[in-house]
Formats: sequence, structure tokens, C-alpha cells
Amino acid sequence: GQPVITLNNGTYIPALGFGVWQMENLEECEKAVIKAIEVGYRMIDTAAIYQNETAVGKAIKNSGIDREDLFVTSKLWVQDHGYEKAKSAFQRTLNRLQLDYLDMYLIHWPFGDFLGAWKAMEELYEEGKIKAIGVCNFTIEKLEELKPHSTVSPVINQVELHPIFQQKELRAYNQENNIITQPWSPLGNGNAELLESPVLKKIAFNHNKSTAQIILRWHLQEGFCVIPKSVTPSRIEQNFNVFDFELTESEMNMIRSLDTGKRLFFDPKDPAWEEKMLNAVADI
Ligand code: A2P
Repeated sequence: GQPVITLNNGTYIPALGFGVWQMENLEECEKAVIKAIEVGYRMIDTAAIYQNETAVGKAIKNSGIDREDLFVTSKLWVQDHGYEKAKSAFQRTLNRLQLDYLDMYLIHWPFGDFLGAWKAMEELYEEGKIKAIGVCNFTIEKLEELKPHSTVSPVINQVELHPIFQQKELRAYNQENNIITQPWSPLGNGNAELLESPVLKKIAFNHNKSTAQIILRWHLQEGFCVIPKSVTPSRIEQNFNVFDFELTESEMNMIRSLDTGKRLFFDPKDPAWEEKMLNAVADI
């Protein structure tokens, strides 16, 4: 079997999964997920706001894989925060995925009434409809805000993280609190400067691997649960082919030194971003 990570509630998640953010073309998404399952991925990471849960559901069904062999994650959208709305949004997600439970359900952004949403998720978790619950894009402050209002601790905090932006402080906090860090856009969303970095190229040459594979291996060796996205069959396969080599401690350190401390994407602390998300019109 492939490497798994144990979550704080005793469940397991594959260490490497398949991300489907930015797969707006549903046919392409369905094909990509089928390809991913074919080459061995056993974890799929989607979200209501990606608007491709239907395609993911079809792919799962058509792949012929047994449900219990797959780990399926989705995320609750900001507009569905609050106790009641979260419950019905979860049901709609299940319907679109044609599933009767989720392996993991995450709060997508820590805005609006996420405490009410968490309460609903805790109940769904206790009922067995979700096997593990977690969060995304939570800062230390938001995790501290959630703590006194929760009886179930989040298993994962999914945040922007790649060699350019390594989140050292938040990672340390997650670790102290038994929360697994799950990077989104682990390849920096295909950022050319990253993928063509001379440091990575040199390490890639040493191992006869691509720079993308080196980055994914770095994530795995840091203990992260990583979910690269690709719609390109050869890359889908390549990104899964990272279990047959190991980076040395000195190579790990070379990659650690690429941290600029600057994100490439949205800042959860930016009030303008929060405002935009709270008002984003989403009929999902
Ligand atoms: P594509 O989907 O066209 O194959 P991230 O997961 O960090 O958000 O990165 C996703 C981006 O990186 C996509 O644009 C994807 O392109 C690209 N990508 C994924 N895998 C590789 C790879 N092995 N080599 C180069 N680019 C890749």
C-alpha cells in the first residue's frame, strides 16, 4: 500500500492525493480523476465552490473502485456557514458526489458564522456521515477562536504552502495541536520561477526526477498531506511517482532555504478578501 498519515481521531489519510481546484471543464475533470485513480491515487480533494463535485462523483462511479478504498474530501463554502445552512450544504455535496458519507469535510474559509458550521459538522461526524472534520485557511487566531467552541478538534488545516511560502509559524502551531498541515497549491500552482529554480533543478538532476517531483517529495518528507493538481495525464502519473527515492537532509535544507515568506495567493487576514468571499455570489 501507499504511505498514509494518521489523523488525530485515529483515521488514516493517504499522504498523497489528487487536487481538482481550477478544473472548471467538467469533462476534463472527470477524465483527470479517472486517470488519477488508474495510476494509484486513492484520495481526491474537491470543494463545493470548485463546482465540479458532480464530475468527481461520476469519475468515482465510472472508475469502478470500491468506495471504502477511496478517501474523498470536500469543503463547505462560506455562503453556507451557520448551523442549518451547513447541514443542507453538506447533503447537497453528498448528492452531487453520489456518496452516502465523506471521508473528510473542511470549512473552506474562516469567515462568517464558521462556529455554527463547525457545530453542524461535529454532529455529522458523530452520526458517521463524515469520518473526519477539519478546516482550511485558518490562521492561529482563528484556530484559537474555534477551540473553546468545539468538542471535536480539526484533523487538518489546509493552507497555501509550497517552497516559496513555507508557513513555518503556522505549521509549528498545527503540530503542537495535533493538526496535520495540508498544503494547497503544493507546486505553487505551477509557478514557473519555482519549477525552474536552479536549486530544484540541481536536486532533480541528482535523482533523475522532475522539479515537480522533488517538490512533492519535499512535502511528503516534511510530513504534509499533499494534493497536487493536474489535468495532464503524463503529469498526473509523474506526480504520483514519488515513492521510489528520498531527499537527503541537506537537499531538504536547500529547499527550506527557498522560503520567501510571501504568499502567491489570497491572504486570510486581508479584510478585502474576507469581504469579497462573504459577498461572492455562489449558487451551490
Ligand atoms: P496542468 O493541470 O495543466 O497539468 P498546484 O497543485 O500547486 O496548484 O499546481 C497545479 C498547476 O501545476 C497546474 O497548472 C498544473 O498544470 C501544473 N502542474 C502539475 N503537475 C505538474 C508537473 N509535474 N510539472 C509541471 N507542471 C505541473
